[in-house]
Amino acid sequence: MSSFFAGIPMAAPIEVFHMNNLYLQETDPKKVNLTIGAYRTEEGKPWVLPVVRTAEAALAADETLNHEYLPVLGYEPFSKEATKLVLGADSPAIKEDRVIGVQCLSGTGSLRAGAEFLARVIGLKTVYYSNPTWGNHDLVFTNAGFTSLNSYTYWDQINRKVDIDNLIKDLDAAPPKSVILLHGCAHNPTGMDPTKDQWKQICEVVKRKNLFTFFDIAYQGFASGDPDADAWAIRYFIEQGVEMVIAQSFAKNFGLYNERVGHLTIVVNDKSVIPSFKSQMQLIIRANWSNPPAHGAKIVAKVLADPALCQQWFDAIKAMSSRIREMRAALRANLEKLGTPGTWEHITQQIGMFSYTGLTTDQVMHLVEKHKVFLLTDGRINLCGLNTKNVEYVAKAFDETVRT
Ligand code: LMR
Repeated sequence: MSSFFAGIPMAAPIEVFHMNNLYLQETDPKKVNLTIGAYRTEEGKPWVLPVVRTAEAALAADETLNHEYLPVLGYEPFSKEATKLVLGADSPAIKEDRVIGVQCLSGTGSLRAGAEFLARVIGLKTVYYSNPTWGNHDLVFTNAGFTSLNSYTYWDQINRKVDIDNLIKDLDAAPPKSVILLHGCAHNPTGMDPTKDQWKQICEVVKRKNLFTFFDIAYQGFASGDPDADAWAIRYFIEQGVEMVIAQSFAKNFGLYNERVGHLTIVVNDKSVIPSFKSQMQLIIRANWSNPPAHGAKIVAKVLADPALCQQWFDAIKAMSSRIREMRAALRANLEKLGTPGTWEHITQQIGMFSYTGLTTDQVMHLVEKHKVFLLTDGRINLCGLNTKNVEYVAKAFDETVRT
């Protein structure tokens, strides 16, 4: 009998999960996982933040809680805290009631809801994202209804820094009303953010060319260890009067990967648009997931609203970001000790979870096949996969690979 499903072409694998699966299937005990962007302890284990355990225990003990639906736009106490976290407690936009918060499904769902709103309700269908960017941006914006998908120059491969001149040139050439997707901090995959001065230049062209700002901030707290410092660019753009949508993820900074805790913060210049905005956004969410899950959002809300718990969360972020910094220093020092051809300062200059090593796809395949060191084919490594026991092995594997 014929099938409606006959002839479905095989889609390309999702690289980050594909490489992670190859690692999981590998039986060699030497194997090292530098693929997916998730935190690992010195022992190579996932980490449930102690403050998350505390909040979970309190929620479990609270007999007044039930499993009724949340409102379509999400759990309000969470939205309030998520908004304050990204904009700052003393944000003028919050004081002036020019902010809308929508709970979404982690970073991806937030991007999707924001993009779909822009495409369907406002008719913005042209987007520019950095080259390179996170592997999912293109798919999310395409599926949200964007018809013109473009990139702006971001990375100077030779000098391993942000190519600000070409970045500005590309934004200058973008048609007015294009959506410009910017990584709020800890750029994925390069680990290199614009300097404050460069952010000012980006903001200037966004305003002058009437471009629309879409921030994606999935690593707040991971760039510097300080969530306020990591939101500097977003807050600067707001000070300059820029309207924007911001997709926030709480996967990494709370270690709540599979709880899908995300938030879309929208800053508008005229607060009279808020009721109609919300009414339209409700329909976008209704057609996607109808209303969001509660557990993770309640954990985040509980922690951020309680100064003592919040302090414990800051401590956890500091612990994670400083372990990553130590691993950056250790990898670089080992490579330099081995005299590995090339320069390796970029490993310690980059920030957040990732390093864009500069290794080629062929070198990556060699590392995977010969040394069982798994990373992404563009050369991105997750520093969290390193620890004091495997960093020397990884450096030796890199060394052998670049000399091959
Ligand atoms: C990553 O970049 O590794 C993470 O954001 C995980 C993902 O979903 O791609």
